[in-house]
Amino acid sequence: MTQSASPAAGAVPQRAEWTGQVGFILSAVGSAVGLGNIWRFPGVAYENGGGAFLIPYIVALLTAGIPILFLDYAIGHRFRGSAPLALRRLAGRFGEGLGWFQVMICVFISLYYTAVLAWALSFFVFSFDLRWGSDAAAFFTGDYLRVAGEPFTLDFVPGVLLPLVLMWVVTLGILEAGVVKGVQRLNVIAVPLLVAGFLILVVRALFLPGAIDGLNAFFTPDFAALGSPSVWVAAYSQVFFSLSVAFGIMLTYSSYRRRKSNLTGPGLVVAFGNSSFEVLAGIGVFATLGFFAHQQSIAIAELEGLTGVGLAFMTFPAIVAEMPGGQFFGALFFGALVLAGLTSLISVMEVILAAVMDKFGLSRAQAVYGLGGALAVISIVLFGTTSGLTALDTIDNWANNIGIVGSAVMMTITVLWIRRAGTELSGHLSMLSTFKLGRIWLFLVSVLGPVVLGYMLIATVFGLLSEPYGGYDETYLLIVGWGSVVLMIAGSLLLTLSPWRRDPALFTVWPAVPGERPRPASATTEGGAR
Ligand code: ALA
Repeated sequence: MTQSASPAAGAVPQRAEWTGQVGFILSAVGSAVGLGNIWRFPGVAYENGGGAFLIPYIVALLTAGIPILFLDYAIGHRFRGSAPLALRRLAGRFGEGLGWFQVMICVFISLYYTAVLAWALSFFVFSFDLRWGSDAAAFFTGDYLRVAGEPFTLDFVPGVLLPLVLMWVVTLGILEAGVVKGVQRLNVIAVPLLVAGFLILVVRALFLPGAIDGLNAFFTPDFAALGSPSVWVAAYSQVFFSLSVAFGIMLTYSSYRRRKSNLTGPGLVVAFGNSSFEVLAGIGVFATLGFFAHQQSIAIAELEGLTGVGLAFMTFPAIVAEMPGGQFFGALFFGALVLAGLTSLISVMEVILAAVMDKFGLSRAQAVYGLGGALAVISIVLFGTTSGLTALDTIDNWANNIGIVGSAVMMTITVLWIRRAGTELSGHLSMLSTFKLGRIWLFLVSVLGPVVLGYMLIATVFGLLSEPYGGYDETYLLIVGWGSVVLMIAGSLLLTLSPWRRDPALFTVWPAVPGERPRPASATTEGGAR
């Protein structure tokens, strides 16, 4: 079922619905488990205190990740719309602006996320003949990416261009098929396959010589790191990115749930499923690194390239080349990266498409091929060229640590402080779900969320202003890093000010939930269009 097969201007379209709870849970897990789990988490954990990182990580998960996941669910389900529409219904024009800001974050993420997926696809193919040879790092930046000295070039790299175009074609094709026939169907197949493949990979890694040293490096805590605010910021932004919360995804996905749906129970399944996968990825990656250090008779701490892009595309291929049966191991790793990333990318794109379909009355095909096609072209120009690597690293940092954390702060302030919708939303969740929410949830989202996250956001901004990120050129960071945030804000303003092509009734009604007392008309217009 597509969301709006033939939208007549002004009509309220029929909204797509998952076929059931399993379809929703698998799609939400597919969105959560992504590059963030396999590519980002192990390196972030290692850099931020190793085993001790699990403490801020779990604190972040329980105090902000899960509570804001429930907030996303409540808003999406009760106000039944994409991020701008649901937040407009809830909190007026300012709410809509926040919704568009979340959409803009997804726009930026989609641009580079597809590039990493394209690399993973290439490396999946390269695994079969260990194409990177004896110097995997030189192969990745030199032979494969052909990284240029200058930050901006228009020299296309055919080896990257081809998989990048392919990834976009596949992604847009799945999205065009709709929420049930495209998104849900993909997740129902891909998520079980991913879990099975990844389990095989981790078990294999645990039997490698030296694996235990890797696990020791990963789990041995450096408690001194807990005193550093940046470690806590890293934990919170990792949890948000990984759980797909505070940037529109879970909000949009829950808007496709049926009226009578259990929300909190599945939310816990998704959150703990995602974190389990994350820790599993950490175990698999560090067991493998232990093997690598063992081969070279050095300590893990002496290895280089244990984070980010380097870990997946330089260190891992080098290890695979030394491993008995490395081809199989490499194919499993990069295949898992492709599957995990694709199911997440689809959810990032769905946030964007649902928003423009809701506001501008576009059909799904128009949104997918018009807007999706335009994003594909931008992504191909940015990342199919020799300047891709630096841009990717910079945009990833700003989109996550400023964009997503900023969005979480604004959402909690708008919804809970300004609109004061906490009791209404907790009532909505509790009325429908097996697992009831109480005052603790309200406290976490309305006090801890804005205060702690607000403090972290300010600390991050000062940190980025005082020291050039990644040692890159300051003008470059100003244009690409801060410029991305300026574009996100400008884009959301522009989109908020554009006129709605749908019936204004969209702002004054929301579907009644079974068991709910009818609301007086005046209450339903609160926060509506004016
Ligand atoms: N949640 C997705 C990930 O972890 C975006 O990659």
